[in-house]
Formats: sequence, C-alpha cells, structure tokens
Amino acid sequence: MYLTHEEEAMLAGEHGEACKRAMEILVALGKIYGADRLINVASVQVAGVSYHNLGDAGLEFLSELARDGKVKVLTTLNPAGIDLERWKELNISEDFAIKQKMVIDAFEKLGIITSCTCIPYLVGNLPLKGQHIAWSESSAVTFANSVLGAKTNREGGPSALAAALTGKTANFGLHLDENRNAQIVINVRTKIENEDWALLGFSIGKKTGNKIPFIRGIKTANLEELKSFSAAIATYGGTALFHIENITPNKTEIPNEKIDIEEIDLKNARDELNDEGEIDFVGIGCPHCSLQEIEKIAKLLDGKKVSVETWIFTARQIKTLAELQGWASKIEKSGAKIVCDTCMAVAPLKGRFKCLVTNSSKACFYGRGTNNFKTKFGTIEKCIDAAVTGKWK
Ligand code: F3S
Repeated sequence: MYLTHEEEAMLAGEHGEACKRAMEILVALGKIYGADRLINVASVQVAGVSYHNLGDAGLEFLSELARDGKVKVLTTLNPAGIDLERWKELNISEDFAIKQKMVIDAFEKLGIITSCTCIPYLVGNLPLKGQHIAWSESSAVTFANSVLGAKTNREGGPSALAAALTGKTANFGLHLDENRNAQIVINVRTKIENEDWALLGFSIGKKTGNKIPFIRGIKTANLEELKSFSAAIATYGGTALFHIENITPNKTEIPNEKIDIEEIDLKNARDELNDEGEIDFVGIGCPHCSLQEIEKIAKLLDGKKVSVETWIFTARQIKTLAELQGWASKIEKSGAKIVCDTCMAVAPLKGRFKCLVTNSSKACFYGRGTNNFKTKFGTIEKCIDAAVTGKWK
C-alpha cells in the first residue's frame, strides 16, 4: 500500500506514540482489504463508548492513547453507558458511573467532542455528498452512506479512533464507487409511513442480508423515517448502504435480481417483534430522537401522567433545544424522563425491566439480545398510550 512521506513519518512515530499505533491499525487493515492507499476523511464518529462494553482493558487502551494522542479531524462520540448528569436518578451504580466518566475524560483528552449520540448528523457532524468519512455505529453509517451520500465503511471502535488520530482511512470497500452499486431490487407493494419504516428495514434486512438494495415504490420519506429505516436494515441485514428511487442521492446501476415486499411482510415483522408480557418499561429514541420526535412526544404527554417507567432517549444538544421550546418540561411533568448520552442497548439495564415498549425494531433486537427483555413494538402514539395507561392495546 502506498504511503505518503507524512504517513510514513506517522508510522515511524514522528507524530507521537498514539498516532503511530493508529497508523499501524490503518496499515494493517489496508493490507487485509487490499487498499491501494490511505485517503483523508472529513469526520469520524467513534462507537464503543460504554464502559459496559469496554471494561478496564478498553479504558486502559484509551488512557494510553490519551497520553499524547489528539484527533486531527472533527470527531464525535456514540452513546455511553450513562446519562452523564442524571445517572443517580436513573439508578445506575456509582462504581459504573465513575468508570464511565473516566472513559469520557479519556475521549475528551483526545480532542473528541463528547456528543454521546448516535445521530451525529443532527448535532454538528454533517458530512456532505461524496465526502469520505470514517464512522462507526451501524445506523449512523447507513444513514451517512445512503441518505447523505457520504462514503464510509462500517468502522469498529479502534479503526474509527485510528482514523480520528490520523485524519485518514484505508481506501477500500464503500469508499470505492464500484462497490456502491445496488445488488438487488426491492419492489415495495404496500404503503409505508411512520413506524412501518422500522418494519420495512426489518423485512428487507432479513430477506437480503448484506446485499445493497435498490428500493422502488416509495413516494416520500422524511428524516425520522430514514433514520429509523437505516437502523433497522443495518441491524437485521447488515448492509451499510441502500438506495431508494427518487429519494436517496447516490447513483447506482440497476441489478436484475428482484424481490417484492408486501403488506404481509410488514405484518409478519410486527408479529415477530411483539412478545407476550406485562409491560414495565417504555423506551423511545433508538436511534436517538430528533427534535420533531421530542415535540410530538411532548404534545402526546401534555397534561398526562405516565404509569410505567418511561425514558425518551435523545442527544443532549436536542434536549437543550427542547427545553428552550418548553417541550422538555411537558415530558418531565408527565413523569417520563428525557435521557441523554446513553441508550437502551449500552446502558447497564439487564435485570431492571422485563418488557420493553418501543417504536424501534433495532431496540427490540438489542432489548432481547443484550438485556433479555420481552418487546412490544408500535407507533410513538401507541407507546405513549402504553406509558400512560400501563396497557398495550
Ligand atoms: Fe442509537 Fe443505541 Fe439505538 S446507539 S441506534 S440508540 S442501539
């Protein structure tokens, strides 16, 4: 793999030990995947932030990097294991919170913006069409590739960190235009709106695995729907890129292989996501809620009281805007909590709840897999109704 003089110098340790280790990771990856060279990236999103997943070994690795490492490009952070301000109120143990804060401190020392959200594109890390980036977090990666038209592989935590510390990534996979063509046509033969997008992502993902789909039959899509779809298709399939005719910005060749998605597929998806069980936890915001979703929830909860523990997950920056609009207080007055910096999958919630109500098919996947929850899936309206009445209707 070709390296510039500057990259050779980084590899030789002339830019410090952290930069050297980062360059070693990139060169190793480049060799494995047959990259011809490294390319500059416009921004990085680092996942693998929760102490729950990192443990002491991860914390030590980060602390070592933070001795002399500094990021070279705009770098934001995925959710951590705690709400950094209200963890006590949410009954997170002090030991865990202390360790998690040490992790965040190490990231901060590296120059990373501790945004702690999986929607970096809504809080200031917004790549443009055609820009190369190095992001981890599957929903954000898929959204960036497909909806924004940026170019990124699905990075792991260490490779994203390596990109941040060097400003570079290896040129392979979805950075190359020839790998970004659709591989299967999906004809959607039913109306898709609101939470149907999470079911559509579930169905396409399960049917097509990691093939890049070209989706036909969709008339409109908004930000929240595409955010939800990106999370669902990446979780249940594995692709990091999709095309939707007349909606997404990337050009693609049209493949011959075709399948249909019909109403019955969405029904089957809904059935698969709904377990028997008495609800005791409502969690909305996977991916983190947008401002519009917070407004909607505030209106639904206005003047009401929740009877079930209800957490609304969002980015701290969005919560701040929601406070200014008066929406946050409407939610909090109902007894529901706006929870920032963390999410249902990475907070230590195992054993705390039995049955999760959510509008996210991705949250169902992690709720079941990571936390052994039963799950119930429905629209935001249905989730809020369950939060207030304590019943799933
Ligand atoms: Fe975001 Fe956590 Fe869901 S990182 S996409 S809220 S699993």
